[in-house]
Amino acid sequence: MAEQADNLRKWARQQAGDGEGRTPGQTRLIAVGSGKGGVGKSNISLNLALALQQSGRRIALIDADLGFSNLEILLGIRAQYTLQDVFAGRVELSAAFTLAPTGLMLISGGSGTLPGAAQSGLYVTRFAQQLAAIDGQYDLIFIDFGAGFGPYSAEMMGLCDELLMITTPEPTALTDAYALVKMMSQGHALPPIRLLVNRVREQASAVEAGEKFATVCQRFLSIRVEQLGAIPEDVAVLRAVSRQSPFFLAEPNSPAARAIRSLTRAPWLAQLTEAAQSLPANDSRGIRALFDRFVKRRSEGRS
Ligand SMILES: Nc1ncnc2c1ncn2[C@@H]1O[C@H](COP(=O)(O)OP(=O)(O)OP(=O)(O)O)[C@@H](O)[C@H]1O
Ligand SMILES: [Mg+2]
Repeated sequence: MAEQADNLRKWARQQAGDGEGRTPGQTRLIAVGSGKGGVGKSNISLNLALALQQSGRRIALIDADLGFSNLEILLGIRAQYTLQDVFAGRVELSAAFTLAPTGLMLISGGSGTLPGAAQSGLYVTRFAQQLAAIDGQYDLIFIDFGAGFGPYSAEMMGLCDELLMITTPEPTALTDAYALVKMMSQGHALPPIRLLVNRVREQASAVEAGEKFATVCQRFLSIRVEQLGAIPEDVAVLRAVSRQSPFFLAEPNSPAARAIRSLTRAPWLAQLTEAAQSLPANDSRGIRALFDRFVKRRSEGRS
C-alpha cells in the first residue's frame, strides 16, 4: 500500500510538471447523488451546469452512473468514448470529452456494466489520477452519480468538494437519502452536504422535507445539511426530456429553469467558483486536494 501511495505521489508530481498554461489545484468538484433513483439528478446536474456555463464559468459534466448513463440521452448526442473506456485504460479522460451542441463538455457514463466490488478500488484510483490530469481546465466539474450506494460511487462522492443531494418530498426518497448519508458517514469524513428538493408542488412541502432531513442528519449523525430550496414540478422538464433538449435552454422562462437560475446565484456556488479562480493551489479543496486525500487514504491501507 505504501509503495502504491508513493507511486501515486510521483505520478502526481509528473502531472503537475507537464501542465503548461494550467493552474493546478483550482478545479472544484460537485458530486450529485441521491438515495432513491429517478428523483432528478441528471436533469438538475445538466441544467445547472448549463446555467453556470451561460454565466461565464468553465463547466464540465461527468456522467458517473456507469450502469445507466442518461446525460447523452438528455442532450440528444452520442459520445464516442465513455467513462468506462477511461476506467478500462482505452482512452485518457481529457480525450473522452464530447462537446455537446450547447457548448458543454461531457463525459458519458456508457451503459450496461456496473463495477463489481473487485473493480471499485481500481476505478477510484483511475478516476482520481485522470481528474488530476485535467486539473485547472475547468472552474467546476459536476459528477452525476447513480442512485444509491456502491463502493466506487461512495468513495468518489466522499472525495469531492461538495455533495449535492437530490430528493423529492416523498418520504421514501427522504428515507433513502438519509440512508445514503448514514452509510457514507461510516467511512471517511464527508464533504459539505447540500440538499435540493425536486418535483415540488407546494413550497411548504419542500421546506418541511428539507427540515426533516436536516434534523435527522444532525441528531443521529451529527452532520449539518444546508438547504438549497426547491425545484418545482414542471411539465417543461417532461417536455425537455422527450425532446432531448435541456429545459434551461428550451424553455428558459419555465418555473424549473427559473429555479435553476436562482440556484446559480446561491452564495456557496459563487464562492466555490470564485475560489477556483483566486485561491492558491494548496487550498484544501479542488482536484489537487482530492488527489491528496485519495493518496492519504490509500497509504492508510484502505482500498
Ligand atoms: N422538476 C421536475 N418536474 C417534472 N418532472 C421531473 C422533474 N424532475 C425530474 N422529472 C422527471 O423525472 C424523470 C427522472 O429524472 P432524472 O433522470 O433527472 O432522474 P435521476 O435521479 O437522474 O434518475 P436515475 O436515478 O435513474 O439516474 C425525468 O425524466 C422527468 O420525467
Ligand atoms: Mg440519472
